[in-house]
Parts: sequence; C-alpha cells; structure tokens
Amino acid sequence: MAKIIGLTGGIATGKSTVAGFFKDANIPVIETDQIAKSVLAKGSDVFQRVVEHFGDAILLSEGTINRKALGEIIFQDEDARAWLNAQVHPEVRSIARTQADLLKKEGHALIVVDVPLLFEAKFDKDVDETLVISVPKEIQLERLMTRDHISKAYAMKKIQSQMPLKEKRKKATYVIDNRGSILHTKKQFNEILSTIQGA
Ligand SMILES: Nc1ncnc2c1ncn2[C@@H]1O[C@H](COP(=O)(O)OP(=O)(O)OP(=O)(O)O)[C@@H](O)[C@H]1O
Ligand SMILES: [Mg+2]
Repeated sequence: MAKIIGLTGGIATGKSTVAGFFKDANIPVIETDQIAKSVLAKGSDVFQRVVEHFGDAILLSEGTINRKALGEIIFQDEDARAWLNAQVHPEVRSIARTQADLLKKEGHALIVVDVPLLFEAKFDKDVDETLVISVPKEIQLERLMTRDHISKAYAMKKIQSQMPLKEKRKKATYVIDNRGSILHTKKQFNEILSTIQGA
C-alpha cells in the first residue's frame, strides 16, 4: 500500500524547499500550485468562468490570466477569494487524485502532495499523513516580502488569509521548523523521512 504525505505550511514557509528534498530522494511530488496554474490556463472552463466573474481587467494583453492582478483582488476581498477557491479547488483535487493513482500504479511506495491550503480546503482527508513546514511569523513575513518584492501590508494580508501556523502544527503528523539554516532543515527532513518509511 502506497503512503500519501500531504506537505503543507504557510505561504513562503518552505514547502517547495522541502519538496525539493523529497525529489532529491527520488520520491515523487505532486505540485498543486502547478495544477492550479494549468486549471486556470487560457480557454479552460475555469478560465472562462473567472473572466466572466472578474472581467477583462484580469487579463494580460496576450489573453492569459494576470495572476498578480487576480491575487491583488482575492487577497483584499474574502468573498472573491472564496468564490475563486470554489472554482479551482475541486478541479485541482481531482487532477491530484488522478496523478496519485497513476504513481501508485507505477509502484511508488511513497507519494508527496504539496498543497498550500491542505487543511483550509480539507484536502487532508485525501492523504495518510501530513507534514507541516513552519517558521515564526517574523521570518515568514521577511522571506515572503523578499522573495515576492511586496509590501509589508500586502504580505501580512496574504499570511492572515490562511489558517494560523499554530493550528496547522497541531493538526500535523510531522512538523519541520524551517527558521534555521537549510542544513538544519535537511537534518529534520532526513529524520522524518526515516520515520515515514518505517526505517
Ligand atoms: N531555511 C531557509 N533559510 C533561508 N531562506 C529560506 C529557507 N527556506 C526557504 N527559504 C527561502 O524562503 C522563500 C520561501 O521558500 P519556499 O518557496 O520553499 O516556500 P513555499 O512554502 O513553497 O512558498 P509558497 O507558499 O509561495 O509556495 C524562498 O525564497 C526560499 O529560498
Ligand atoms: Mg511553494
């Protein structure tokens, strides 16, 4: 029986960084961020609904969705965010399930799915165990502002739109504290991977 690990955390806490460690260990990672992008690709059903709902103003000149503009709308407006999530999440979930089934058939014993809103979207029901990547809020804020070149106010809005990390840690099977060096995070990862694999 394959085991599915749900990898989550807060925005910019280090999920993709840890996803990279899994990939380095030849463990497949399903990236729901990538799936969400494909679900919103020009011409898709969700794309049509989103353009109808938000108008042409969220399109770039080449006719694809301006993700930055869409982000600015949904992080200021809770109803808009809930509406968009209701369009995107079921599709993403269904594609992620199909990908997981395929990987299971290929014989992978361990499959990781990186889902930023794992608990918020109740996606944790689809996985066997959960791994939360956590950092203190000040570090999260700083890394998010630096990586995305955004203001403190906007970064705070993004962080506050998510379930507090403290709650996510409580729900988690495993927690990695990513406040320190990458090496320190890798050490925690190695220990958890041994536990997950029952070694
Ligand atoms: N231990 C660390 N020390 C310093 N910087 C780090 C560390 N871990 C991650 N970072 C940096 O923090 C930023 C966020 O990391 P990463 O992209 O892995 O987070 P994420 O949780 O996948 O973000 P998102 O929610 O946007 O998908 C990146 O710029 C990354 O290089
Ligand atoms: Mg990421």
